[in-house]
Order: sequence, then structure tokens, then C-alpha cells
Amino acid sequence: MGSPGAGKGTLAANLRTLNAEHVSSGDLFRREMKRNTPVGIAIRKTMKRGELVPDHLTLGLMRKWFWGRKSARGFILDGFPRTRIQAVCFDEWMETRGEVLTACVLLELSESETVKRLSQRRICPKDGTVYHLAHNPPRCEGRCDSCGSTLVQREDDIEEVIRRRYAIYERLTRPLADHYANLGLLSVFSAEIPQEELTARIFETFNLAPVPR
Ligand code: AP5
Repeated sequence: MGSPGAGKGTLAANLRTLNAEHVSSGDLFRREMKRNTPVGIAIRKTMKRGELVPDHLTLGLMRKWFWGRKSARGFILDGFPRTRIQAVCFDEWMETRGEVLTACVLLELSESETVKRLSQRRICPKDGTVYHLAHNPPRCEGRCDSCGSTLVQREDDIEEVIRRRYAIYERLTRPLADHYANLGLLSVFSAEIPQEELTARIFETFNLAPVPR
């Protein structure tokens, strides 16, 4: 969990050596948008405004992804759940699957830092690599380091929309921290430190080690 731009996707990418299955609800939605399905078109309108996708659509897509999938090394959920209803449904899914949630990581970032980060984020449309013009710039301006594609800015990464996303996060998602704290699963980290340092702290806190492939 974390506010928009707190670094959920970057952290998940840095944890790839754990060989866990990573899923980002935002990425699932963007995939659906690319397909131009009626659901994808409805999602685009909602995301462009910076609002949350309705629970029934979110739960439908997440359930479809999750169901029937097994992972010996577990799952990293990035950006899901984000509402009380999603959290309750997710708890039920876990119970049905006979699995347990082992940790909830909450990344904290101030609103002003969020705006700075997201307005300077650039993404490779081909392989999804995330850059930041100041903190993590590509080697060649405007081009992806790994595939050379032209980098793009997300439609919802403009200041007015970023501030709306942040306000919605504070109202609907941040309160879920209490739910996970009550279950004894919550760990809170400041996201205002360099990503390498944050990743190292996560490895240390949870006593993690890279897994050979
Ligand atoms: P989603 O794509 O998940 O967007 P988000 O939550 O707003 O988060 P972001 O992807 O913008 O940021 P991030 O935390 O992953 O940060 P990143 O690593 O990229 O969701 C998009 C939309 O989909 C939502 O607005 C909503 O409409 C909908 N949605 C998604 N899930 C939903 C759900 N469950 N229910 C309903 N609707 C849902 O990093 C950001 C930038 O900062 C990058 O440039 C990066 O290089 C840089 N950076 C990262 N870490 C650091 C660091 N430590 N120091 C300096 N810079 C850093």
C-alpha cells in the first residue's frame, strides 16, 4: 500500500529476485484499456479523472487474475486492496484458498513530494520500465535504457489529477492501515529515502534473501 507515486511499482520491481508473482491492479487496468474493451473504455475515463475504479470491476479483474494461480514463492500485490470492501473480499479469498497474508507494507510520502515525483515520472510503453527525470533518468534522454522505445507520461500524471488521487488515497485507502495493524501485519516505511535504501530496509526487516532461479 502507499499513496500515488510512493514507489510501490519500483519496490515491487526491486523485489523481483524473490521470484514471487507480482500483480499491480493499475497495470491490469492499463492492459484492459489497451484492449479497448467496453470495460477498458470505462476504466480509462475513471483513471483520467484520478478516481478509483469501481469495486465490482476491480474485484472482477483481480479475481480473474488471482484465481487458479499458484506461486511457490507467494505473491506481491501492488495497489490492491484500496477500499474497505476490497480488503474484506481479499480476506475471504485468502481463507478460501487456504493461504495467509504475511505482511502489509505501507509506503508513506507527503503530498508535495508526490506531486514532484509523479509529474517527473516517465514510463517505457513497451517493457514498463519506470524512470524519474531527476532521481532515475534514462541514459539517453527520452529513451528506454533496455529497449530504446520513446518514453511516455501517464495521462493521470498531471498536477490536478495527482492531487485528486492523493486526496482519494487519504480518504479511502490510508484508513485500511488500521485493518492490517489490527491483524498485526502492518509495517510502515518512509518512502522519502532513495529507492535502493528502501529496498535494503525491506530485505532486512523481513529477513529476505534473493532466490536463485
Ligand atoms: P496505479 O497504477 O497503481 O497508480 P498509483 O497507486 O497512483 O501509484 P503509481 O503507479 O502512480 O505510483 P507507485 O507507487 O507505483 O510509484 P512508482 O514506483 O511508479 O493505479 C492507477 C489508477 O488505477 C488509480 O488511480 C485508480 O484509478 C486505479 N486503481 C488501481 N488499483 C485500484 C484498486 N485496487 N481499486 C480501485 N482503483 C484502482 O514511482 C513513482 C516515481 O517516483 C517514479 O518516477 C520512480 O522512479 C520514482 N521513485 C520511486 N521510488 C523512489 C524513491 N525512493 N526516491 C525517489 N524517487 C522514487
